Amino acid sequence: MPRIALVTCRPGPDVSTDRDLPVLAGAFEAAGAEARVVEWDDPDADWAGFDLAVIRSTWDYSWRVDAFLEWAERCGALTRLANPPEVVRWNTDKRYLGQLAAAGVPTVPTRYVAPGEPAGDLPDGHGYVVKPASGAGARLAARHRPGEHGAALAQLARMHAKGLTAMVQPYLGGIDVTGERALQFFGGRLLHASRKDAVLTPGTPFDERKVAHPGLRPWTPTPAERDTAEKALAAVPGAPELLYARVDLVDGADGEPVVMELELVEPNLFLHLHPDSLPRLVEDTLAAAKA
Ligand SMILES: Nc1ncnc2c1ncn2[C@@H]1O[C@H](COP(=O)(O)OP(=O)(O)OP(=O)(O)O)[C@@H](O)[C@H]1O
Ligand SMILES: [Mg+2]
Repeated sequence: MPRIALVTCRPGPDVSTDRDLPVLAGAFEAAGAEARVVEWDDPDADWAGFDLAVIRSTWDYSWRVDAFLEWAERCGALTRLANPPEVVRWNTDKRYLGQLAAAGVPTVPTRYVAPGEPAGDLPDGHGYVVKPASGAGARLAARHRPGEHGAALAQLARMHAKGLTAMVQPYLGGIDVTGERALQFFGGRLLHASRKDAVLTPGTPFDERKVAHPGLRPWTPTPAERDTAEKALAAVPGAPELLYARVDLVDGADGEPVVMELELVEPNLFLHLHPDSLPRLVEDTLAAAKA
């Protein structure tokens, strides 16, 4: 009887509730496995007592990345961790987008500004986004109008003071029309996809709490979306070790999908939209636990 840890975080005012957890736990039990919901920073957790620990909703980690990565290393040494610690480390720093671009994967054009570096030229000819290279839930992200640099510089300074590298990207206006599509993979194959509307409305201050998934609904991915998502995943160091992956796509200036984000740490699965995905998800996870 495989023992599986579903790894989450402590409930708090700043983290949303993982609606998938009870559903998953029930499905694993029904399949003859023993499933436990465990908080990643629980000092009493016995990681060695599990055949597999699946990171599910550690949605507080971006506030404490170092502690989280240390935990992933430790946990990965005691049991099989999905995804593996090296993948988790790679994915917590969005400089990976630059690596994907260098590997020929269509990505959102991105310039990085590390703490101590000058802001450089901020865009005058088009709207743009400034956001942290490590974060979630659009935290500290904001959209600026062309030539509007005061608020962007203040935002950069605030991120740098927190030790965060900033990313500067053109605002991809296609998102206002065709939204953002999240393609969820499991066991190396597409599981399901969802679509959500644009998060950054003009004038939203960077320090305001954002609605993370406005207008969320099921989506049937186009061949171009599948192709770009598969290219992105193939470029991940450790790609064959991935149990799960979510690829977030938006339409670029030419209307073709580009990668906005690869979520290989704690993707929200949106199972309430995709109840039919549960059996395969359980099957693939059990296979990983027995491997
Ligand atoms: N270059 C951009 N053009 C248009 N919209 C953008 C751009 N960058 C970010 N956004 C908007 O901001 C949201 C959050 O950005 P992103 O996904 O990069 O950060 P995140 O903090 O990891 O978010 P989450 O964890 O909610 O996915 C996106 O879902 C999108 O709506
Ligand atoms: Mg995102």
